[in-house]
Amino acid sequence: MTTIAISGKGGCGKTTLAAMIIRILIDQSANGRGVLAVDADPNACLGLTMGAEVAGTIAEIREQARAKPPSNEGMDRIRSFEYGIQQAVTEAKGFDLLTMGRPEGPDCYCAANNLLRKFIDKLSAAYSFVVMDNEAGMEHLSRRTTNNVDLLCIVAESTPIGVITARRIFELAEQLPISVKKIGVIWNKSENSKDLDGVANFGCVPYDKSVLEASIQGKTIFDIDANSPAFSAVRKILEETVINPG
Ligand SMILES: Nc1ncnc2c1ncn2[C@@H]1O[C@H](COP(=O)(O)OP(=O)(O)OP(=O)(O)O)[C@@H](O)[C@H]1O
Ligand SMILES: [Mg+2]
Repeated sequence: MTTIAISGKGGCGKTTLAAMIIRILIDQSANGRGVLAVDADPNACLGLTMGAEVAGTIAEIREQARAKPPSNEGMDRIRSFEYGIQQAVTEAKGFDLLTMGRPEGPDCYCAANNLLRKFIDKLSAAYSFVVMDNEAGMEHLSRRTTNNVDLLCIVAESTPIGVITARRIFELAEQLPISVKKIGVIWNKSENSKDLDGVANFGCVPYDKSVLEASIQGKTIFDIDANSPAFSAVRKILEETVINPG
């Protein structure tokens, strides 16, 4: 299983790139165990972008467990969680989608969270690829929801603010005790990358009219031409980083 996490500033294109990556990997893993898309943004949009109707969220399961603790702990509780998570997995065409919903507060201790993490890890292991779209900013890193990651893509626009934000995310990821095998920047909506000293440059994804047009018209990622400039650039980046890293 290869886990890819997407991070970056608000509006830089995280969900769009996550959806493109998922669509490309669906084609790549046609004979494999498939792709699990994880929407870890509380303002969940990945399902909409992928044209999948969300069955339920992990946050809902956690809230239900808090409101109605099972009469006896142990197996009943474990089974009820496992069942809840299975219900929250949306089976879509070529991929499954897990929507996290609102995260727990930073100080909240809930035994449910440990169980949830365990089950999500178990569930993830059943797929060839797990692709996680995160909320804007760095909270997901601080909360360590992005834990064992093979590829952390920092999405940034090649503006001065984009450069500063990308560096902040990189530095935080380096400081935290999370395991990331490969980390680098994808410069989105731009033809030119910026040089971030000491940070890998995964490549550029150009501004693509057909991508913006699809979002304006409420279309899904599957409605965009798979050979459009943005798709071609994302495919090249994936080939160089996870498919045929060489
Ligand atoms: N390469 C591109 N070319 C043209 N438009 C793009 C490109 N990438 C993203 N967009 C557009 O930019 C807008 C924001 O993209 P998106 O929602 O993916 O950003 P985000 O980082 O997920 O935002 P948020 O922080 O709100 O979650 C969308 O309208 C999307 O269609
Ligand atoms: Mg988004």
